[in-house]
Amino acid sequence: MRCDQTPAWQDLKVHAAKAQGFDLRTAFAQDAHRAQSLSQTAPQVFADLSKNHVDAATEALLQELARQTGLAAHRDAMFRGEHINTTEDRAVMHWLLRQPEGSLSGELAKPLAQVHATLQPMLAYAETIRSDAQITDVVNIGIGGSDLGPQMVVLALQDLVMPGKRFHFVSNVDGHELAGVLKGLKTENTLFLIASKSLTTLDTMTNARSALAWFQAQGGTDVARHFVAITTHVAAAAELGITTTFGFWDWVGGRYSLWSAIGLPVVIAIGAQGFNDLLAGAHAMDQHFQTAPLEQNLPVRMGLLDVWYRNFLHYTSRSIAPYHSALRRMPAYLQQLEMESNGKRVDRQGQALAYATSPVLWGEPGTNGQHAYFQMLHQGGDIVPLEFIAVKKPTHTLKGHHELLLANAIAQAQALMLGQTDEGGHKHFPGNRPSTFLLLDELTPCSLGALIALQEHRVFVSGAIWGINSFDQWGVELGKVLAKDIHARMASGNVAGLDASTAALLQRL
Ligand code: F6P
Repeated sequence: MRCDQTPAWQDLKVHAAKAQGFDLRTAFAQDAHRAQSLSQTAPQVFADLSKNHVDAATEALLQELARQTGLAAHRDAMFRGEHINTTEDRAVMHWLLRQPEGSLSGELAKPLAQVHATLQPMLAYAETIRSDAQITDVVNIGIGGSDLGPQMVVLALQDLVMPGKRFHFVSNVDGHELAGVLKGLKTENTLFLIASKSLTTLDTMTNARSALAWFQAQGGTDVARHFVAITTHVAAAAELGITTTFGFWDWVGGRYSLWSAIGLPVVIAIGAQGFNDLLAGAHAMDQHFQTAPLEQNLPVRMGLLDVWYRNFLHYTSRSIAPYHSALRRMPAYLQQLEMESNGKRVDRQGQALAYATSPVLWGEPGTNGQHAYFQMLHQGGDIVPLEFIAVKKPTHTLKGHHELLLANAIAQAQALMLGQTDEGGHKHFPGNRPSTFLLLDELTPCSLGALIALQEHRVFVSGAIWGINSFDQWGVELGKVLAKDIHARMASGNVAGLDASTAALLQRL
């Protein structure tokens, strides 16, 4: 049943009206067990949800909403390999990429065997590159899911990156980006990875062709050694003259693809063992999502909270604050994951929705954000739930820093909640501002894998409740079509039929 037609939805509306005066400070004062009951341990991740505008009654109603909308059945359909991506008639099986070899029977046994038959050569290839001292620079050319995931992970695990190898990520069709990277490179020392699920994305194809042209202009000849294509259209790589290829499948969505051959830069950076650990961490979270009761299921609790905030308390955005500078690309990664998945205005049947879906995601690492936009989080007119991501143990040995960093994270969560109400005017902080605190013991491939899979599944949960297809992205197509038209008009100068603003801009250019 569509969420807004369920009895639980109506109950939540009534509950939300009653919860108008909800105050975190009162909620803690009235419930000695609040911190505990609104905390959840999941593989590699501890979550404190207690500083959110939610209580046991809200959670119970949200759980009811999950039951009435068939969340568990939809989740199970994904894990059975059913074609839940209906508009593209595809299965959604990024989780299969982290499933241990030989662990499934029935219809999924074959695709799982293919996953491992593809993974092993990819890992072996990465190891040869790691031991090839002549290759010092790896340039990943890809955009969206073919860029953000591997880039975020390589940065996050920078302490494990093999010395002697530098990693560059070129995504933008803006030639300044590729030109800037090429400036410092030598053909004999460079490996280009052309990463594109479709191998048609204009930005990536333009950069790939320019990289090939640069390589040849510099006297490079051995394309097979210096260029790799990673795509579901392996045959199409030949058109670019690239013969070294790694494939994956149409049932891996672009923004869910870092676990596939798209993760090749990660394997070259941290090695096969590290990549296997990343997969293992994600798999542990998959199992938690599949088997933990809904009431103690972290992706479910977080996804339901997202629905509560978006549709009942009408919070329009969520800010992400990784208190770890190596996680600085996490907000960008999560933007694609959530907003491309759930930024939808129709249900799975194509019917317009009468309720909002994806919030706006944004953020920067703490403590930087504190000295920039946290002012608005504390005293602005809008309420923006903040998601902290903190790591207990640092990997550096600089004295004093990490304690200060963590103290700041906790203090911000505390300040947002408690406010400062004994002062008036400019110094008045209303408090009662919600936040979630995610904590990892250490930032390792395993914990990072679990953290990313947690985010994937919480996006699945809200998308499932909303009854939308979280796995297509038709909204990006119109801009691509129009860009082709405008591009042609730039050469011809023809502005016939354009609106006045577009025509004037084109003429100005
Ligand atoms: O245009 C959006 C999109 O299709 C994303 O979904 C995807 O991650 C990105 O472009 C790159 O696509 P590809 O990997 O096919 O080049």
